[in-house]
Amino acid sequence: MKRVVSVVGARPNFMKVAPIDRAFKKYSDKVEHLIVHTGQHYDAKMSDAFFQDLEMPEPAVFLGIGSGSHADQTAKVIMGFEKVCLDLKPDLVIVVGDVNSTIACTLTAVKLEIPVAHVEAGLRSGDRKMPEEINRLATDAICDYCFVTEESGMKFLKESHFPEDKTFFVGNTMIDSQHFALAKAEESNVLKEIGIEAGKYVLVTLHRPSNVDEPEQLQTVLKVLAELSQHRAVVFPVHPRTRKNIESFGLNELLKNVHFIDAQGYIDFLALMKNADFVLTDSGGIQEETTALKIPCITVRTTTERPVTCEIGTNILIEPTADAMKTAIDNMLNKPRKAGAIPPMWDGRAAERITEIIVSQILNV
Ligand code: UD1
Repeated sequence: MKRVVSVVGARPNFMKVAPIDRAFKKYSDKVEHLIVHTGQHYDAKMSDAFFQDLEMPEPAVFLGIGSGSHADQTAKVIMGFEKVCLDLKPDLVIVVGDVNSTIACTLTAVKLEIPVAHVEAGLRSGDRKMPEEINRLATDAICDYCFVTEESGMKFLKESHFPEDKTFFVGNTMIDSQHFALAKAEESNVLKEIGIEAGKYVLVTLHRPSNVDEPEQLQTVLKVLAELSQHRAVVFPVHPRTRKNIESFGLNELLKNVHFIDAQGYIDFLALMKNADFVLTDSGGIQEETTALKIPCITVRTTTERPVTCEIGTNILIEPTADAMKTAIDNMLNKPRKAGAIPPMWDGRAAERITEIIVSQILNV
């Protein structure tokens, strides 16, 4: 029996690992699959809600690392995960995405000579000021196997001379979760609870440090939302860090006409995305989720590590200035919209492909 450990740490990890866990069930006579949660995200709304909504089993280990500076958080995950590896002796560690837990656990496992597979490898924004870009570069530089969601990832890995026979274009496990949860999202009461109508509101999320950590920039963005909320319903489920900043910078007043609500669970957020007129965000994953749903998305960032969402999906990038935001919103409301298509292999079956490759080509069982 082989043992595979998948790491989750922060909110965008849960929906990437849930389908992998489900797909491993087919091989339960050969592979034991365990989930280790670093506890990078710990609020019920940022973590527990996702386990329930995605029907994930309890993690085998919860490290309870919590927040801190990048160095503090990364170091604590490394120390905690080393003990886990020594104890569980996995045959393979799977890491997903680009959060601090991703690089921390990769570094730990690789130094213990445990092979590491990176799911969502090869993505690059080219912006080294993003902590996630550093995590992506470092993880791909030292992991053993790369599973890739879009063509751009194949290109970057090839350019960086990552072994081609250990690079697999498999599609997007995040979209597997979307397929899994769509029927449940149809049953969600969240629109009714908020008091909004399908197709008649703008959904907003903001949490990138570059948009929310400086008072001036946050105020610029919120002023645009305040103006939009005069003539359109605006729903803004808020990341805890963004909420803290809005409060400490004294900007709450700008949101008086906005449905300013807590971060949502996976199913309710999916219902909000699916029924939105359009989405305005600075998230990584939401660019992909809206593309898969064919819902227009304005991304308030100058770069994306997910170019397929702009090339063939519904996403557009804009400068994070008041003028650019207003123009993009005005175009969205008054001009014909971009028709998007679904990127190759975003078909809900990526995790099946990943586990098939792991079992037959990596673990050889
Ligand atoms: C992390 C990821 C980011 C991802 C985001 C999604 C890194 C470098 N960043 O950013 O890629 O898009 O998650 O949410 O790993 N906090 C809470 N409760 C929580 C978690 C966080 O209140 O459950 C607050 C704390 O004040 C904390 C801050 O959010 O200091 C930052 O949390 P952290 O996990 O360090 O980074 P995120 O900004 O959430």
